[in-house]
Amino acid sequence: MKATAPRGRRPRRKEAAAPSPAAIESVPLAVGDKRHPVLGLGLWGLGRWSAEDEARTRATIGRAIERGVRWFDTAEVYGAGRSERLLGDVLRRATEGAQALVVTKLSWEHLRANQVRASLVRSLDRLGRASVDLYLVHAPDRRVPLAETMGALEQLQQEGRIGAIGVSNFSVEELEEAGRHLRSTQLVVNQVRYNLFDREDAEAVLPYCREHGIVVEAYTPLARGLLNGRYLDGRRPPAEVRQYAQDLFGESRLPEIVRQARGLQQLAAEAGVPLPSLAFHWVRARGAAPVFGASRPEQVDANLDAWAQRPDEATIARADALVRGERA
Ligand SMILES: NC(=O)c1ccc[n+]([C@@H]2O[C@H](COP(=O)([O-])OP(=O)(O)OC[C@H]3O[C@@H](n4cnc5c(N)ncnc54)[C@H](OP(=O)(O)O)[C@@H]3O)[C@@H](O)[C@H]2O)c1
Repeated sequence: MKATAPRGRRPRRKEAAAPSPAAIESVPLAVGDKRHPVLGLGLWGLGRWSAEDEARTRATIGRAIERGVRWFDTAEVYGAGRSERLLGDVLRRATEGAQALVVTKLSWEHLRANQVRASLVRSLDRLGRASVDLYLVHAPDRRVPLAETMGALEQLQQEGRIGAIGVSNFSVEELEEAGRHLRSTQLVVNQVRYNLFDREDAEAVLPYCREHGIVVEAYTPLARGLLNGRYLDGRRPPAEVRQYAQDLFGESRLPEIVRQARGLQQLAAEAGVPLPSLAFHWVRARGAAPVFGASRPEQVDANLDAWAQRPDEATIARADALVRGERA
């Protein structure tokens, strides 16, 4: 129910009021003393890296810091290093920057032992830090034995340049193998794609990760804006969005997904929450930590407002059934 101010005593609307920080819980990491917030901001799709895009990205990261976000995800491949550079710069200038959990990733093209060290050194240089809190293998490459990559990462962790080691896009078999090659430490994170419409990869690894104390970070939790209500009016996602989300926005799946998303929107309206609340809290309820993308401050605001509104369990269960049911 909406609270209304008594007649005649309606408070004046504050212009440009400072946004309040969102309450974002965190969980301890299995290695080191850092905690892992359960909601974070990812810095992949940030436009075309024009000066205007960069200014907007700085403002976006700045807004996220103001709003209480403390987990930032980047990678050496994002904008060919520009994402790391911008993040490092904004965090250095912010008072709260030192509290952030900074996560970056080793490219799947740099998994050889000699490449691992060189990649990390370049990433640290761009981030302007002596060490990174969490370093993830972006994706496996079957041509490079995991023993080689894990050995190099462990060495760098022992030197204090990596707080903890994680992976991304790993199956259970790959997690087991990577774990076998770590002698004095363990994997703390597996970052995988997870949203109401894309479940298979994450659900295949969630039980194993739970059992082994590995945090599952869920990327693309908003289905590239679809779960913010985008494209529900029948507009087609632009080519650059389709290119990286083919299985989601391919011709054969899109009409069904849009129909389901409209159903979710109606469900969210009935429950009195914004659509992305359902998207985020469905992921959270399944034991994963969403890392969303945003390319402007207003998106950060909308997403954090959505996070702050938690649908009840019955609504989350109905959202789940709606997508599963219509698929069957
Ligand atoms: N490990 C991996 O292989 C991997 C792969 C993909 C992503 N990731 C990480 O996960 C992060 C998130 O992934 P993602 O960008 O695919 O996920 P997403 O959160 O599902 O989608 C983000 C996009 O949705 C749109 N959006 C966000 N908030 C919105 C709002 N309030 N209203 C309208 N549109 C909104 C924006 O598109 P516009 O910018 O077009 O406005 C934004 O860039 C990435 O930044 C990256 O750090 C990792």
